[in-house]
Amino acid sequence: MALNLLSPTEIKTLSFLDSSKSNSNLNLLKFQGICCIYIYICVCVCVCVCTSGFAFKRKEIGCTASKRVHCSAQTPPPAWPGRAVIEPGRKIWDGPKPISVVGSTGSIGTQTLDIVAENPDKFRIVALAAGSNITLLADQIKTFKPKLVSIRDESLLGELKEALADVEDKPEIIPGEQGMVEVARHPDAVTVVTGIVGCAGLKPTVAAIEAGKDIALANKETLIAGGPFVLPLAHKHNVKILPADSEHSAIFQCIQGLPEGALRRVILTASGGSFRDWPVEKLKDVKVADALKHPNWNMGKKITVDSATLFNKGLEVIEAHYLFGAEYDDIEIVIHPQSIIHSMIETQDSSVLAQLGWPDMRLPILYTLSWPDRVYCSEITWPRLDLCKLGSLTFKAPDNVKYPSMDLAYAAGRAGGTMTGVLSAANEKAVELFIDEKISYLDIFKVVELTCNKHRAELVTSPSLEEIIHYDLWARDYAASVQPSAGLSPALV
Ligand SMILES: *[C@@H]1O[C@H](CO)[C@@H](O)[C@H](O)[C@H]1NC(C)=O
Repeated sequence: MALNLLSPTEIKTLSFLDSSKSNSNLNLLKFQGICCIYIYICVCVCVCVCTSGFAFKRKEIGCTASKRVHCSAQTPPPAWPGRAVIEPGRKIWDGPKPISVVGSTGSIGTQTLDIVAENPDKFRIVALAAGSNITLLADQIKTFKPKLVSIRDESLLGELKEALADVEDKPEIIPGEQGMVEVARHPDAVTVVTGIVGCAGLKPTVAAIEAGKDIALANKETLIAGGPFVLPLAHKHNVKILPADSEHSAIFQCIQGLPEGALRRVILTASGGSFRDWPVEKLKDVKVADALKHPNWNMGKKITVDSATLFNKGLEVIEAHYLFGAEYDDIEIVIHPQSIIHSMIETQDSSVLAQLGWPDMRLPILYTLSWPDRVYCSEITWPRLDLCKLGSLTFKAPDNVKYPSMDLAYAAGRAGGTMTGVLSAANEKAVELFIDEKISYLDIFKVVELTCNKHRAELVTSPSLEEIIHYDLWARDYAASVQPSAGLSPALV
């Protein structure tokens, strides 16, 4: 399928051609010259979907046995039931909105601070929590003058105080885990950005929810591991969970104002990662360096491997389920190599809405801070999307032999409860082992499957926070101990 974009004068039609499928419709839409105008545009297109049903004919493998036994009745309420509307009476912030950032020296944190620095009339920083980068944290304190600061590594407290010796308005400093919690629930903060990785992000996020803060969500464990615990809590405290990653933000942007029950399908786009053009047979020879080459986004090692295996997308399917309440049968993955469409939704009347933009993490972060408002962005720092320069956008169905992660993720999602956290933690450990050259590329899938299989007997449907953290640790330990080549699973041989 290709979406061909011609130069402005030639634009008459926007077409989806599917050369490989004979039974698909050819949809032509009048396209009225509105392209090349906005940084992001929400186009309404009739997508001609591969009728082969790539999302439905999944082999039942791995963690599937618990399907339906544990789910339905226990499924937690989604963050957004397929629609996003502002309740009447909800306070719209005037003047700079006070923000806390947990994980301020990481990639999400630094991009958040760039946005705040660019929009001092819209946002201000009240509290920052960092891991161990004292130099950067000290710079951030000097620039943003937060009231409260936390450094996770307590041994660095002295060094931080030294670095702030000549700062006039010194912030309060609370080290360690308690500090992160206090930053997350700082009384002045309205929104908390959770840019910290791993289950370490759970406690501060829970503290922020209990204190009634909106969550700009960049920590995937919050929903993937913590969903069954976090979502009911967010509902109880009437807290909004605003997705800060590009795919879920795209879906979130597309469901704005959608009437109840109007969402039919979620379509997550995936770049296809480093091996999208590799034949399946060659995957057994993959080297670490091959997996670390990503075509579109420049990311950390772990995430780059996750996009090669497509585990990142599998985990996003689970997150989409928790965020938007879509059933797993109604969430699909489509490979879109250009990464310009960040995801789509289909409404009941078969209309498809997409959100487009350059691959840039700042836009979804900005929207979590500004929602429901839209902030003007200068084209000097925010290049505007030029569809004509792009020429064409292409799509293809993901191959579930090449990406066994999809079946594993859907199966874990359907099992629900602690299974999704186990899947994610096992994958993290497996990727670490692969990067350290302890296991092969294909072993990543086997390690994850074997760990999920092992967990089936112990699955907890409505886990406590302690149980979530316990099984996260258990999955990492177990994944490190399995011998993938000794325990070949029939589905993956
Ligand atoms: C701290 O952050 C800066 C800026 O991102 C980076 O250049 C530096 O390497 C980091 N230092 C440590 C110790 O991670």
